[in-house]
Amino acid sequence: MCGIVGYTGPREAGPILIEGLKRLEYRGYDSAGIALVDDSGRMFVEKRAGKLANLQTAIADRTPHAAIGLAHTRWATHGRPNDLNAHPHQDCTGEITVIHNGIIENFRELRDGLEERGHTLTSETDTEAIAHLIEEAYQGDIAEATRAALRLIEGAYALAVMHRGESDRLVGARQNVPLVVGLADGETFLASDVAAILAHTDQVIFLEEGDVADLRPWGVTITDVAGRPIERAVTTITWTAAAAEKGGFDHFMLKEINEQPTALRQSIAGRVSRSDEIVVDELAGLADRLAGVRRIELVACGTAYYAALIGAAALQDWTGLPARATVGSEFRYSPPPLDPETLVIAVTQSGETADTIAPTRFAREKGCPVIAVTNTVGSAITRESDAVLFLQAGPEVAVAASKTFVTQVTTLVILAAAIAKARGSLAADRETQLAVALRALPDAAQRTLELNADIATLARRYVNSRGFMFIGRGYGYPAALEGALKLKEVSYVHAEGYAAGELKHGPISLLDAECPLVAVATRSTVYDKVISNVMEGRARDARVIAVATEGDPQIARFADEVCWVPDTDEVLSPILAVIPLQLFAYHTAVARGTDVDQPRNLAKSVTVE
Ligand code: AGP
Repeated sequence: MCGIVGYTGPREAGPILIEGLKRLEYRGYDSAGIALVDDSGRMFVEKRAGKLANLQTAIADRTPHAAIGLAHTRWATHGRPNDLNAHPHQDCTGEITVIHNGIIENFRELRDGLEERGHTLTSETDTEAIAHLIEEAYQGDIAEATRAALRLIEGAYALAVMHRGESDRLVGARQNVPLVVGLADGETFLASDVAAILAHTDQVIFLEEGDVADLRPWGVTITDVAGRPIERAVTTITWTAAAAEKGGFDHFMLKEINEQPTALRQSIAGRVSRSDEIVVDELAGLADRLAGVRRIELVACGTAYYAALIGAAALQDWTGLPARATVGSEFRYSPPPLDPETLVIAVTQSGETADTIAPTRFAREKGCPVIAVTNTVGSAITRESDAVLFLQAGPEVAVAASKTFVTQVTTLVILAAAIAKARGSLAADRETQLAVALRALPDAAQRTLELNADIATLARRYVNSRGFMFIGRGYGYPAALEGALKLKEVSYVHAEGYAAGELKHGPISLLDAECPLVAVATRSTVYDKVISNVMEGRARDARVIAVATEGDPQIARFADEVCWVPDTDEVLSPILAVIPLQLFAYHTAVARGTDVDQPRNLAKSVTVE
């Protein structure tokens, strides 16, 4: 939810930290702050509510020379988003500075105890308590004092800590929230995400649960919270910093929509052979357990949940096993039967979504085999799973997911086919059909992107609509849900996503000339029924925007506007159908002047339940 970056080395820390924060704003952006120990050993701390630009203005022309520092971009959990609650936080002496991502669950009792013992806490945050706990434990060794404080803390955290008197030393700690160490020649970095430090190094260590990292310019030592040494492997990052830049587009969202053909190619690579076989090597170690599976549960949130709906339908169709998708925040509170015969598939772009991780962990405790589908190497979900399929979509920076939705659907379809094949329930000719359709998909996505200019015009034509009703059936239904979510999250226009058959059971009362109907009406087994539902809307004066398959001879009679997409296998149709809906959301947001890449109230990675 928040972004952390830290630096110790010979260079000017201030600009390195600010550049790092720019790469992390997607993690939260309701305040930002920086702490530097200057060359004279003084602690400089500045923090500001609002976006990073406010902090930059506040420190312009007065950033001290410093070779060590911490910086933070915040998404508020405890305490309002104001200057006081912005990070960094300090202890009573002002010697110790802490930034934090996560939630300290026992912070009330910790704060009460600290106040009884005479500490003055100035903010409403849980984080400030950590600084004071470290102060109590400090005896000249900031790593040891941090470990002592962590032994008192319950909850989730990624922390970075610095002491004014140990002016080349940073301490990082991780528990259920991501934190990565960067290693370069004579300098080290801490960050929530490699994107923040990739301009400086491609050598990183992904910290694991309970790790405490002690960073000096010349290297890092890692221990557990008790102080026992731990060895962690160094990973070489293969994507470049440029991949995380806008690449000439006005917004990351538009860039990422346009990256979908490439992302699809990467997702399919190695999983669909030239001889039209579907191969998922990642399942090799699970073969015996998959053979005994009797039920399949998918768990995910938001856009990933809509992808999971498609995965569940394909799994059920091809394996004959009951398969369903549940939103992560509901799963544990009404759990399905969970046992070693229940396969759980967790779908999460970030791999850090608390609402998805908690039920996955719960299912694993019950003995379920777990497969993760994620975009993020080194993320928490990869440690909660027996097998991991990476989306291979590349970094997604815009808060609104686009390329990760289409690659989630693709990866889940491939996974469903591989599981069905392993169980002997996927006919060879069906596997071939799917393989052929999958290989054609990137080019079909590329052609669909040619709609961009027309959809920009369409979005401007409908920009003053009161709201939008998105409908679809079968595999078109999750595409309608995703289209509605995209529109509301980036343009702040109200949109409903409905199973088309449900329209007449209530939401049809919303329809009139000011509330258009957006129908996913691609070629499918339920096409005629979708058209009937479109007719119901037209009869209530609703304008109709249809997403239809190229060559459909009828749709123009029922729709005011048609977005044509190439034909594909029905199970893959939501991938192409969603592209015009993503573009519609994007251009509506631009026309309305919203903050497209960082919409209000949202964060890219939601690491609290
Ligand atoms: C998508 O546009 C949203 N920002 C959101 O629904 C997101 O998909 C959800 O929070 C799940 O994130 P995850 O895939 O990283 O778990």
